[in-house]
Amino acid sequence: MFANLGRLRAFVAEATLLADRHGSSGMAGPTLQAALADLVAHDDWLPESCAAPHPEYYQQHLLHCDPLERFSLVSFVWGPGQSTPVHDHAVWGYVAMLRGSEFSQRYLKTASACVPDGAPTALQPGQIDVLSPLGGDIHRVWNACEDAVSISIHLYGGNIGAIARHVFDPDTGQTKPFVSGYSSAHVPNLWDRSAEVRLTLK
Ligand SMILES: [Fe+2]
Repeated sequence: MFANLGRLRAFVAEATLLADRHGSSGMAGPTLQAALADLVAHDDWLPESCAAPHPEYYQQHLLHCDPLERFSLVSFVWGPGQSTPVHDHAVWGYVAMLRGSEFSQRYLKTASACVPDGAPTALQPGQIDVLSPLGGDIHRVWNACEDAVSISIHLYGGNIGAIARHVFDPDTGQTKPFVSGYSSAHVPNLWDRSAEVRLTLK
């Protein structure tokens, strides 16, 4: 399928302008969330290489990282049965559902455990979950579809794959540092606009 990378490029441009105006911590808000909602309202732009599941592990494909590391955009690809550990983020985040569905279970950290905070919530295509370290952002996420791949698009207030954060043992509350990295060494090429420019040639 031809990926309409223009949508992704337009989102990156808007997020960059917001980062220029408001900085990494100030760019999150209704304008950015609306731009992300518009991005996931269409399912014609994600390159197949960034939508491919792994038989064992959920995938985190970097779509774009701001050169000043003020934000990053990542496609999470969930195979059936795949889930994260209980983890935090250290920066603000938006989780926007593109295909399928995922569950998120929030947790509260106590001195001796991580306890579930309410019931799991399901995210459907087009819906966005907001994460903020200020409000408590510990959660576990898993594919809600037992027999299909689900994909969510995550936007973070930093280069999320290179940020030191934490995983938690929910039974003991034990905390371990971790850095997620990314699943691929490659990012989509947003900048080859030659085909559209060729159409303008006389
Ligand atoms: Fe998360």
